[in-house]
Amino acid sequence: MAKELIHIASDHGGFELKKKLIGHLKNSGYEIDDLGTETEDSVDYPEFGSKAADAVLKDGRPGIIICGTGIGISIAANRKKGIRAALCHSVEYARLAREHNDANILALGGRFTDENTAFEITDVFLNTAFLSGRHKRRTDMLDKI
Ligand code: RB5
Repeated sequence: MAKELIHIASDHGGFELKKKLIGHLKNSGYEIDDLGTETEDSVDYPEFGSKAADAVLKDGRPGIIICGTGIGISIAANRKKGIRAALCHSVEYARLAREHNDANILALGGRFTDENTAFEITDVFLNTAFLSGRHKRRTDMLDKI
């Protein structure tokens, strides 16, 4: 049975990793909303960070965004109120991004994170719950900035 929907977007710097990650997620039973880009042709990361952020805000399902470093696309997504995009380089970052920050978008650097590490980071991100408590007070403060 299909698991729930994951929104995913990248620029050209994240395109290769996005393709591999979509395969991994489909094998794990997730339904994928692929918001582009569709080729390795050069595109602009703000467009794809913004598209993913809008999709996550609309239905509350998690997002994954990838550019070359993961930096530009996460800056773009984080411009939208309610988005907590976390650039993760390790499984521990992914766990803490969920437990402490209730991150609703995982950002990855396609030119810096190999596919197996990306798969592990993604699996932990999607399967770790927010701890709430004192962390909820802090995430609530984010939307008041
Ligand atoms: C594109 O060359 C590159 O700048 C982009 O993928 C990203 O790394 C920006 O932060």
